[in-house]
Amino acid sequence: MTRFDSTAIDAEAVGLVSTDNTTTAPREQFTGQVGFILSAIGSAVGLGNIWRFPGVAYENGGGAFMVPYLVALLTAGIPILFLDYALGHRLRGGAPQAFRRVKKWLESLGWFQVMICVLIAVYYAAVVSWAASFFVYSFGLEWGDDPAGFFFGEHLQVADVGGADAWLTFDFVAAVLIPLVLVWLVAIAVLAAGVVKGVQRANVIFIPLLIVSFGALVVRALFLDGAVDGLNLLFTPDWGALSDPDVWIAAYGQIFFSLSIAFGIMITYASYRRRRSNMTGPGLVVAFSNSGFELLAGLGVFAAIGFLAMESGTAVADLPIAGVGLAFVTFPAIVSQMPAGAFFGALFFGSLVMAGFTSLISILQVVSAALQEKFALSRRAATLGLGIVLGLISVLGFSTTTGLILLDTADAFVNNIGIVASAIFMCVFVIWIYRRGPELRYHLNSVSTLPVGRWWYVCVGAIVPVMLIVMLTGFIAARIAEPYEGYDTTYLLFAGWGSVALLVIGAIVLTLPRWRSREEFTPWPTYPPTDTSTARKGAGR
Ligand code: ALA
Repeated sequence: MTRFDSTAIDAEAVGLVSTDNTTTAPREQFTGQVGFILSAIGSAVGLGNIWRFPGVAYENGGGAFMVPYLVALLTAGIPILFLDYALGHRLRGGAPQAFRRVKKWLESLGWFQVMICVLIAVYYAAVVSWAASFFVYSFGLEWGDDPAGFFFGEHLQVADVGGADAWLTFDFVAAVLIPLVLVWLVAIAVLAAGVVKGVQRANVIFIPLLIVSFGALVVRALFLDGAVDGLNLLFTPDWGALSDPDVWIAAYGQIFFSLSIAFGIMITYASYRRRRSNMTGPGLVVAFSNSGFELLAGLGVFAAIGFLAMESGTAVADLPIAGVGLAFVTFPAIVSQMPAGAFFGALFFGSLVMAGFTSLISILQVVSAALQEKFALSRRAATLGLGIVLGLISVLGFSTTTGLILLDTADAFVNNIGIVASAIFMCVFVIWIYRRGPELRYHLNSVSTLPVGRWWYVCVGAIVPVMLIVMLTGFIAARIAEPYEGYDTTYLLFAGWGSVALLVIGAIVLTLPRWRSREEFTPWPTYPPTDTSTARKGAGR
């Protein structure tokens, strides 16, 4: 089939034939470019943008952080996003299917990415459920004068992890458990409804709503007294930070998690696009929207922190400005001091729920697609199966009094080791060893309006793997030299290194069973090209 063989394309789209021949049912497809772009933005914009970015930027040079951040976006973020898109769109599958079509045994890399999603999903759902609870608490400013005491004490009832076995406690907290179960039920319902009626519809509703509500919140924050002091703090550049390798590592880490790349999500979403779909232009829209949102979050959060510092007479540096502390302690404190605080509290936590939920469903879709494709399961069976197993793990792990510490540890190890290792493996195997770079670039250029130049090879073939190998060895060496956050070493062995081991073991175990759906597959357009006009276009013109 050539690029211009529209009969075959249309037949696939309406389900008359299945051009990938893997299942009898036609592959689900986003209805168009807008649905895809909103879903990809929905996945990218998440907790990473709202609570992670402001703190990471502040701790890594403030205004000067924008330099490594932009370099990381251009040299790694966009190139790996394009790599994900090309793999999913050309090879028409979720992560295990796509990598299997590069090389059979590489299916295991796909399952490694699925396992990353499994581990992220179980704690990500917990944070979304806390945000949902705080959305409700906002109306009565329930946290009173002591947001820290309220969040850690009353809401989470955090246990003190002093002894080696304290993390094993299973004291459930009803206020955490019930919303968490609800989050899982809604996520399962969305996934079971399918890519168009579930995932795309949720994003088409939530993403515009998120932009309006978060935008309103940021504009309000910028006009608060003291906002300028907060912004000065964020944007005063510490140029010396640029010579610190950790600052560069932080920038690359932020981009990977935030753009949802290298852990299967963008491969899976791209596989649901029609064969003749522009990929690179929408990719840039997604990448810059994600960074724009991140910047917006930085402005809003620091303006609000400047206000709180002024109102409470506290030094800004003494306030929690990252992670759970920022969202669930500092923000409630800010809201309590603001005029119409209940309204802005609801806007903030409502935004957090929408941003987190749309990312959560993209993470779960990776698992669902992989199970459907490998085990020839129906969408409903796969969704129900994953919902029950992961929902149970999530509830058992994160609605207990030790959930917070477990979340923090799993998050650090899975992000800094799992995702980074996965991106390295992608570059090494797909680009270096199996040399699929030219074919994937040809594919992107054949279907897209914006051509990908040779610079792409330099990024995915050299800059990304080298930077990430440095990052990974640095993180591992630091964790060996000094226990993460000073936690108990036995605990870290299970919760931290255990999470990493689980990624590897899960990848092996899930690769072993026989692939159950039919396997003949012809990538389209044909490569190397036979028709000269297509060849010229694919080569980047
Ligand atoms: N990209 C998602 C986030 O930023 C996972 O939270």
